[in-house]
Amino acid sequence: SNRGDLAINESSFPAAMDRSNDNIKYHMKPSSTKWRHNQTLSLKIRKQILHFLDAERDISVLKGTLKPGDIIHYVFDRDSTMNISKNLYELLPRTSPLKNKHFKTCAIVGNSGILLNSGCGKEIDSHDFVIRCNLAPVEEYGRDVGMKTHLVTMNPSVVQRAFEDLVNDTWKEKFLQRLKSLNESILWIPAFMAKGGEERVEWVNDLIIKHHINVHTAYPSLRLLHAVRGYWLTNKVHIKRPTTGLLMYTLATRFCNRIYLYGFWPFPRDLHQNPVKYHYYDSLKYGYTSQAGPHAMPLEFKALKNLHLQGALKLNVAECE
Ligand code: CTP
Repeated sequence: SNRGDLAINESSFPAAMDRSNDNIKYHMKPSSTKWRHNQTLSLKIRKQILHFLDAERDISVLKGTLKPGDIIHYVFDRDSTMNISKNLYELLPRTSPLKNKHFKTCAIVGNSGILLNSGCGKEIDSHDFVIRCNLAPVEEYGRDVGMKTHLVTMNPSVVQRAFEDLVNDTWKEKFLQRLKSLNESILWIPAFMAKGGEERVEWVNDLIIKHHINVHTAYPSLRLLHAVRGYWLTNKVHIKRPTTGLLMYTLATRFCNRIYLYGFWPFPRDLHQNPVKYHYYDSLKYGYTSQAGPHAMPLEFKALKNLHLQGALKLNVAECE
């Protein structure tokens, strides 16, 4: 078994994130319990989530349901609208990119710096389906994060944050190379969530079409966010706005038997009190997820940790063998 198995038990998570004040009981637990997949629970969760959403359907709006010129109200900014452009319409899939898809094991790779020096690349790549977030770079980090990508998300803000809004040819080329490296995978763009990204989504769509980029584009449905929130609220996880990582887990329950999470660690220190970067690949700081922000990552983490302890998913926060 790998070190991650041994390292994860209740006592190995930061006590600070647990507000219940009953840390003492953690210290009294035996120090290592081996993680075991709980198939019954996984199936139960899949069924419950299906009451709220169907990943096969909600992963993307399909061509038949919209036409160019249609007006859409943003999910989070109901008063603002956007137009379905010709390019966006052209890139809508005809059938769900997840239609009839089933995988034995899936990896969901979050972007925490906890991945650095983890050596988890091989293990991540060994899964049947690998999901990544926000076009995070892989090539330079292969040893720790792996190289394979079957689905990658891209918030429109990534174009600004990681590619300087494509201000010049150098950045355009850099972005284009990243797109080209995705060959055949699903590029999941939440275009209808928040206002302000319309132009960026257009640039991306334009590049994909112009350069015949070989990706399967997907644009999540308008109901997805509320449905995901609804599911977690029903389970007493009070999140304002689910993060991309939690969205991916919620969707993955539909088509993955076993789900392994890597790079989920919204804390500035690791288990040995060493500093952990917010992202493994840039210098973004933790304040970004303060309570004032839209996300409540530590709260989500606690929910995921509980699922880990029950065997519904495996949360990897240690080094891999
Ligand atoms: N994540 C984490 N701990 C971190 C950073 C990220 O657990 N220190 C997880 C979160 O679930 C996050 C996902 O990894 O959604 C992808 O990270 P990132 O690209 O940073 O997402 P954000 O832009 O911060 O948030 P979002 O895209 O959800 O708005």
